[in-house]
This record gives sequence, structure tokens and C-alpha cells, in this order.
Amino acid sequence: MKYTERIPKWLWGAFFVFTTACETDRPVPYLHQIPSWFPEMDIPQENQLTEARVALGRKLFYEPLLSSDSSVSCGTCHSLDLAFTDGLSISQGVDAALGMRNSPTLANIGYAPRLFHDGGVGGLELQSQSPIFSVSEMNFSIAGFLDRISDDAEYTKMFLEAYGREPDAFGISRSIAAFERTLISSNSRFDQYEYQGDMNALSEQELRGKTLFFSEETECSNCHQPPLFTNFEYENIGLYLNYADSGRARITHLESDKGKFKVPTLRNVELTAPYMHNGSIQTLEEVVEHFNGGGVGHSNQSASVKPLYLTQQQKTDLVAFLKTLTDVSFVQNENFSNPN
Ligand code: HEC
Ligand code: HEC
Repeated sequence: MKYTERIPKWLWGAFFVFTTACETDRPVPYLHQIPSWFPEMDIPQENQLTEARVALGRKLFYEPLLSSDSSVSCGTCHSLDLAFTDGLSISQGVDAALGMRNSPTLANIGYAPRLFHDGGVGGLELQSQSPIFSVSEMNFSIAGFLDRISDDAEYTKMFLEAYGREPDAFGISRSIAAFERTLISSNSRFDQYEYQGDMNALSEQELRGKTLFFSEETECSNCHQPPLFTNFEYENIGLYLNYADSGRARITHLESDKGKFKVPTLRNVELTAPYMHNGSIQTLEEVVEHFNGGGVGHSNQSASVKPLYLTQQQKTDLVAFLKTLTDVSFVQNENFSNPN
């Protein structure tokens, strides 16, 4: 007699009901689309990605009720079509209050060990609440938001599904972080050429620019390292002799960190103008001109920033290469757009 024949039929039935019940309760993991040429992403054990968490985070990311006058959401300053930037030199919050810095792209932000231009914030779960309180951003409070959605059955259901608890600060900060970790940009023409073997993806000119970018002459790739096009270090690139914003030194209080800012990713840089921590440079041509000039010679300036003596042709080639980092499928990804 086979083992299974000894088990009464009704017991199988009970087993079936039991397992399918568990099936529906078990969170559906989010299928994280990370390509083979990208590093593994560190995701906190207690906030693993699930469909429900990402969906809630996405809804909250685009939720203007998180701001005092219900006019500003995260997506206002981090707009998908601009690779999650806002096109302004300095971001504006509710009542057009001016902040202090340029809105950075959120492409591949799940890899950043520290956040903000000065690395002042430790992680996405911590960061996602700060714009809500910030006077120059959303100028509101978590309690005020929870009050606004207290009768909203859909929100209650989504929070319960995502974290097994009613709407609260815990679910808000974690779900937004979960959504942000899904913002992977890895399908630029550079990726197609470099990692997917499409030898026709780049033109002659773009290839000349690529060679320059990775050369010892320019050293661009020392700081903007592929595949993420940043090494996440803080560097002074000699924009000013006296920085109005002292950058990394605001956090460390070290003289040697004055004027140092987080090396930004260059992915989608064609879409993220204006440039630098304060949006002071308008075009890629001008950025290349800055590096070509070798900086103003600040005492903390990196030795990698020095006069390059590039020809006009070489400068144009470099800009052409930077534009190959644009990822059209990223800014058109419907999973990242406003679901509300
Ligand atoms: C008023 C515009 C504005 C709003 C609204 C806003 N941000 Fe930002 N965000 C910025 C600016 C400016 C910075 C850079 C801050 C700094 O470096 O001091 C930033 C930085 C960030 C960073 C760090 C990026 C990096 O490269 O280090 C993340 C993540 C982020 N914002 C997510 C959010 C989320 C989530 C929300 C909504 C809860 C939000 N932002 C709302 C303007 C805004
Ligand atoms: C020593 C490290 C270093 C080197 C070398 C370097 N960069 Fe940068 N780059 C930075 C830092 C840091 C910033 C941001 C400065 C700020 O926010 O004020 C930056 C900003 C940029 C920006 C603007 C990005 C944005 O979103 O604001 C572009 C474009 C850029 N670099 C391209 C290049 C090119 C091209 C080269 C080579 C000619 C190069 N970089 C060399 C560190 C470096």
C-alpha cells in the first residue's frame, strides 16, 4: 500500500484548504529587475520588497495630501519624465518656498549608502519622512496626513496588506523606501553596447567620447565609475574658492571636507539639468567646460580635476557620450508613474 492511500480523503481536503489559505496571505515578492552587470542591492531584512509594499510606496510617493496645502508630492520635485528631478536650480516646496539645493535623480537610488548632496542621511527608510516635515518642501506632519486618510478604506487596506498594520509612520517610511528601490535604470544605449553586445548602439562620435571619459587623461571615470557612474565618494571639484554651501563639512565639521559633495550618478544626465548641488550650471557643454578648465584651485580640490586642454571636437564628443546614458525605457516605465 502506498503511503498516500492511507491518508483519508477528507484530510487531503483540509490540507488543500489550509495551504490555499496560506497562499493568499503570503506576501507576493516583488520581481526586482536588476540586470547581471549591476551589483546586488542591499535591502534591509525587515523591509524586503513585496508587491503590496511597492504599490503603497508608489501611491504615497505621488500623494499631495502629504503636504500642508495638498499641492506638493515627492513627485513634484522628483518627476519621472526628468528622471526624477524637477528642472529647477533650487527646488521649491509649498507656497514656492525655496529650498537650498538641486533635486537629485532617484535613478538607482537604492544603491546609495548615504543620501543628500552631503551624505547627511543614512538610508531610504530614514529619508522618506524628512521632506514631509521640511518647511521648504511639504511643510506638514505624519499625524496630519494620517488624519486626512483616516476614512480612506483603500489606504487602510493597502497598509494592512503591506505591513500588517493600520496606516502609520512605520508603513509610510518603509513603503516609500521600497518603491524607491525599484527605480532601476539600466537600459541606456551605453548598457546595450557595453554589456549586451550591441556593437551598433553607439556612433563613432559617442565611442570617441567614451574613450575620453574612461581615459587617464580626463579621469572622469575615477569618480563616475560604471555601472552606476558614481563611486559614492565626496569630492571638491573646484567650483568656488568660497562655497556658500560647505557640503560634506556640514556633517563632519572638518575643514578638509569643505566644498565636497557626493559624486552624482551620470545616468540620465541629459534629462537632469541644471547641474551641481546648487543647479548653478545649466548645460552639459558648460559642465565639460568646467572640468576642462581644471577648477578654481580650492585647497580641498581633487587632484583628478586639472586642466585637460581638450579640443572643441573632444568636448563635443564627451557630451555626446554623456547623452548615451539616457534610458528612455526608464522614464517611460509605467510601473514608476503616478498611479493615483
Ligand atoms: C520641494 C522639493 C522636494 C520634495 C517635495 C521632495 N524632495 Fe526629495 N529632494 C529634494 C532635494 C532638493 C534634495 C537634495 C537635498 C540635499 O542634498 O540636501 C532631495 C533629496 C532626496 C533624496 C536623496 C537623493 C540622493 O541622491 O541622495 C531622496 C531619496 C528623496 N529626495 C526622496 C524624496 C521623497 C521620498 C519625497 C517625498 C516624501 C521627496 N523626496 C520630496 C527635493 C524634494
Ligand atoms: C574628483 C571626482 C570627479 C571627477 C574626476 C569628475 N567628476 Fe563629475 N562630478 C563630481 C562631483 C563631486 C560632482 C557634483 C558636484 C556638486 O554637486 O557640486 C560632479 C558633477 C558632474 C556632472 C553634473 C551632474 C549632476 O547631476 O549635477 C557632470 C555632467 C559630470 N560631473 C561629468 C564629469 C565629466 C565629463 C568628467 C570628466 C571630464 C568628470 N565629471 C570628472 C566628481 C567628479
